Amino acid sequence: MTETDDSKKIPVEKSAGDAPQEAAEAAPPTAAPAAAGPEPLLRVRGLVRHFPITKGLLKRQVGAVQAVDGIDFDVRPGETLGVVGESGCGKSTMGRLITRLDEPTGGSIEFEGRDITHLSQGRLRPMRRDVQMIFQDPYGSLNPRHTIGGIVGTPFRLQGVEPEGGVKKEVQRLLELVGLSPEHYNRYPHEFSGGQRQRIGIARALALKPKLVVADEPVSALDVSIQAQVVNLMDDLQEELGLTYVIIAHDLSVIRHVSDRIAVMYLGKIVELADRKALYDSPMHPYTKALLSAVPVPDPKRRTQRDRILLKGDVPSPINPPSGCRFRTRCWKATEECTTTEPPLVALRTGHQVACHHPENAPNDQ
Ligand SMILES: Nc1ncnc2c1ncn2[C@@H]1O[C@H](COP(=O)(O)OP(=O)(O)OP(=O)(O)O)[C@@H](O)[C@H]1O
Ligand SMILES: [Mg+2]
Repeated sequence: MTETDDSKKIPVEKSAGDAPQEAAEAAPPTAAPAAAGPEPLLRVRGLVRHFPITKGLLKRQVGAVQAVDGIDFDVRPGETLGVVGESGCGKSTMGRLITRLDEPTGGSIEFEGRDITHLSQGRLRPMRRDVQMIFQDPYGSLNPRHTIGGIVGTPFRLQGVEPEGGVKKEVQRLLELVGLSPEHYNRYPHEFSGGQRQRIGIARALALKPKLVVADEPVSALDVSIQAQVVNLMDDLQEELGLTYVIIAHDLSVIRHVSDRIAVMYLGKIVELADRKALYDSPMHPYTKALLSAVPVPDPKRRTQRDRILLKGDVPSPINPPSGCRFRTRCWKATEECTTTEPPLVALRTGHQVACHHPENAPNDQ
């Protein structure tokens, strides 16, 4: 990859995560998520979500969809972690688990050092203020029968919070914050465009001043021009409010603009996790390399220089995933070892983890 435009906010340059790859030292392989900086806001270990498949009247379990199957990662305060991968690889399931909209089958989730893995809905209530979700579908995620004021004000009612100056004033302030007019308070969702609706969803997510916002495909339903506006808005709000983001997308060009670090998922596993620049300049997992090779490059000269890697076959079923490395059935580097042994996610450079027996761009001693 020789991408040069590394701006996060379009088109302003972002410095975090832009350290030159050469400066990244080769690290001895280690299974622990790369430790750096302050205590993580969110710590996820061995996270598993299997959906049971049942049969017959007695609902006998005959198998399971291994949607998320043992993933480890941290989210650091103030950063944006991008999560990318093909459809069905478990991104949304992971998002629902870390916001505890769903309960894991295994593993642990810690928020600010507190184990929230199996907290009941009642005990989760205080945490719900701190962790909010923005949904993919700006049409389906807003109740058409409620006014904008009612929708954005819902979190205050649910949490029994009375903001200073009252709910209406605070909702109108939030509408202004996301670039809408306070006069929109009494209008209904059908009166707004997709981009405006997504702004309403963002205002609702920010109502209780959360620390962590998980956005599941926040711009994929929007036109490209509107995508840039919403991405820039989210970036401004992050700076202004000190937010931490987990942003899920299958579009690598969106992920490249928004992320400080990126986790690449394949069939319920994280196969690579690295700073944005390291991942785009020196991808180590063949799957990441293949995904990046499919990203459109505007410069025709660079486009011809870059080989497009076409992945063979379809993504295997998460009900019966391949043994060993799950990517091996589509990987041009696969060997016997890949069939028999699952590669653990290890740091081959400082802060750059990969789960592969035959990584690309690995330090020389590998
Ligand atoms: N409630 C459920 N019951 C059974 N299977 C489910 C459930 N939710 C998700 N799955 C399955 O889990 C796998 C992962 O789904 P998920 O929605 O997390 O993928 P995704 O990466 O978000 O995909 P997309 O990019 O299409 O949104 C899929 O095979 C999906 O069919
Ligand atoms: Mg999804």
